[in-house]
Amino acid sequence: MPTVVVTGANRSLGLEFCRQYAAERWSVIATCRAPAQASALEGLGVEVFPLDTSDVAQADALAATLAGRPVDLLLNNAGVMGDKTKSAFDADLDAWQTAFRINALGPAIVTRALLPNLQLTEAPVAATMGSQAGIYDRMQSAELAIYRSTKAAAHAVTISLAHALKDRGVIYLSLRPGRTKTDMTGPDADYEAEDSVRLMRSVLANVKPEWAGKFVDRSGVVYPYGGGFQGYSSV
Ligand SMILES: NC(=O)c1ccc[n+]([C@@H]2O[C@H](COP(=O)([O-])OP(=O)(O)OC[C@H]3O[C@@H](n4cnc5c(N)ncnc54)[C@H](OP(=O)(O)O)[C@@H]3O)[C@@H](O)[C@H]2O)c1
Repeated sequence: MPTVVVTGANRSLGLEFCRQYAAERWSVIATCRAPAQASALEGLGVEVFPLDTSDVAQADALAATLAGRPVDLLLNNAGVMGDKTKSAFDADLDAWQTAFRINALGPAIVTRALLPNLQLTEAPVAATMGSQAGIYDRMQSAELAIYRSTKAAAHAVTISLAHALKDRGVIYLSLRPGRTKTDMTGPDADYEAEDSVRLMRSVLANVKPEWAGKFVDRSGVVYPYGGGFQGYSSV
């Protein structure tokens, strides 16, 4: 039975990943900031552990709890939007810094902690939820400064992790869910979480070594991080 670790698992895309992998009889290790309040995870047959992904001590504590357990797949899903109305001129700097720590550093913090678990499996894969918001030629206005800049940084961290992990046998990539209806985006987004997660699971089940470091769309198309790609969807 393969094992997946999901961060930010208590709601939205993270919860849906847990639901679908549990239904496929994977061993699911769901992590979230407040397990006592993660009622949506109850009854899914998943294990729940505390993890604020911006907190190195919590990541190390999780690693200690999971010592010796193989992890086939790590989904660095936890993320924050920040105030989407704010530009680089008026965004709250503390909130911006916090978002950097969660969106960009969080995947590195968690991956560093759980690398020994990933290395216990035959073909380990790990991924960050990337975003088209972090693609440079899509940044055509002042607002969304926090989300755009921190997701662009997250993409850069993916590339660095991928290079560092190649020799360690781990394929690390960025995934693009597409604009999916969640607490982050609201009901006007384009896709249902169930469909986006199903498609991303299919991408993950068919990961190619050449996708290491790349930004792979839910349909398996590789998007350039900088832009200039004609095949973008409208979202
Ligand atoms: N939805 C989309 O269309 C879309 C598109 C592209 C990329 N993404 C990315 O996909 C990921 C999930 O998005 P979503 O739409 O599901 O977002 P969401 O509805 O806002 O849910 C975010 C999840 O991340 C958790 N989280 C935030 N900060 C955390 C931290 N420091 N430690 C642990 N958990 C933390 C939240 O937990 P709490 O309940 O504790 O706040 C929540 O479970 C994000 O990285 C997002 O940027 C989403």
